Amino acid sequence: MDMNAQQAPDALDDARRLEAAHLAQVYAQFPFEVVAGEGAYLICADGRRLLDLYGGHAVCALGYGHPRLLAALRRQAGELLFASNAMALRVRARAAEKLAEFAPDGLSRVFFVNSGAEANENALRVACQLTGRSRVVALQHGFHGRTAAAAAVSWGAYRWYGFPQTPFDVVFAPRDDSAAVAAMIDQETAAVILEPIQGLGGAYPIANEVLVAARAACDACGAFFIADEVQCGMGRSGLPFAVSHAGVTPDMLTTAKSLGAGFPCAALLMREDCAAQLGTGDLGSTFGGGPLACAAVEAVLEAMHEEQLPARAAERERQIRATCLQGPVEAIQGRGLLLGLKCNSSASAARDRLLDANILTGASAVPGWLRLMPPLNLHENEAAALAATLHQPGVYREQSDE
Ligand SMILES: Cc1ncc(COP(=O)(O)O)c(C=O)c1O
Repeated sequence: MDMNAQQAPDALDDARRLEAAHLAQVYAQFPFEVVAGEGAYLICADGRRLLDLYGGHAVCALGYGHPRLLAALRRQAGELLFASNAMALRVRARAAEKLAEFAPDGLSRVFFVNSGAEANENALRVACQLTGRSRVVALQHGFHGRTAAAAAVSWGAYRWYGFPQTPFDVVFAPRDDSAAVAAMIDQETAAVILEPIQGLGGAYPIANEVLVAARAACDACGAFFIADEVQCGMGRSGLPFAVSHAGVTPDMLTTAKSLGAGFPCAALLMREDCAAQLGTGDLGSTFGGGPLACAAVEAVLEAMHEEQLPARAAERERQIRATCLQGPVEAIQGRGLLLGLKCNSSASAARDRLLDANILTGASAVPGWLRLMPPLNLHENEAAALAATLHQPGVYREQSDE
């Protein structure tokens, strides 16, 4: 370990230099090199152990090195690494069955893909295809991915959308105005797409009344209600899926990130009658639903049940709300373990101070808001470490850099 510590500056310098040689330089990166993970901790090249409340951007729902997930991947890799969708697989059937059971009632059909953006791309395509309409309603401050259709419905399209034109017409409704949202959904609308808790938008929970109003307007106009639960789904909100907090069932739901807890995969869930209108060749993916991805999905869903991860996320939320409203934190929003912490000066300054104390947190697109997206099996004493660190005066810094 001492040797690691001595090698740290060189090792970090080396990793950055090696990456910079051939990788497109499109990511801002944290100032450390990670070499391993253990539970809720990341282990750096210099031997530092970071309590990871960023969770690989809401991906690492089971933490690092979860025995069930590793065993499932090892077993499946040994048996069959890949087979395309042209061949039926028991592991794919099991993963789909378990995911449909975990999903809100009625979302019983699964289409597996590889990323959140791809799931949204397909949901929007199905909505346009089945309605024959070409207008989509999205919410201000929402984020749905970087592919053509997903980027088109992401707020601040100038920032995410690099294509000369959108594949359909898009209108953005205010995220907190149920009447405005309902008024924008009409007979021309193919779909409304929204994140029940906006991740990049600062872990902002969309009010139940907005979700209920959108549902009613979609029913009245024959438009699809698409819940993007790529970030807030899979138990993170304290329920299997966040839209259920409003008692609303979408027509389609997309999920990714925590779905494979580190193995890249995503899914589009839809109603039976919606799937019944799709025929051979209407949707497709080479890698989606591959055996390794499905083994990961199955292991994650088993862990969700056996370790009661949604309930544990809700319990940690209560603890964090009760103990972390102090130091630089003046407000907390979100649900479960997708929480936004409003800092009374600069979020990045607070994030840097927390990192100095070996606690990793995430930023958001909203100035002043830190984001927590930790593993769902975060322990009580790990959440307590955040509260204790926020209590230290050094975490607070006066100057603002946002
Ligand atoms: C709500 C939401 N939807 C879609 C995406 C895109 O997912 P992916 O990066 O897997 O394409 C993200 C990614 O952060 C997201 O947070």
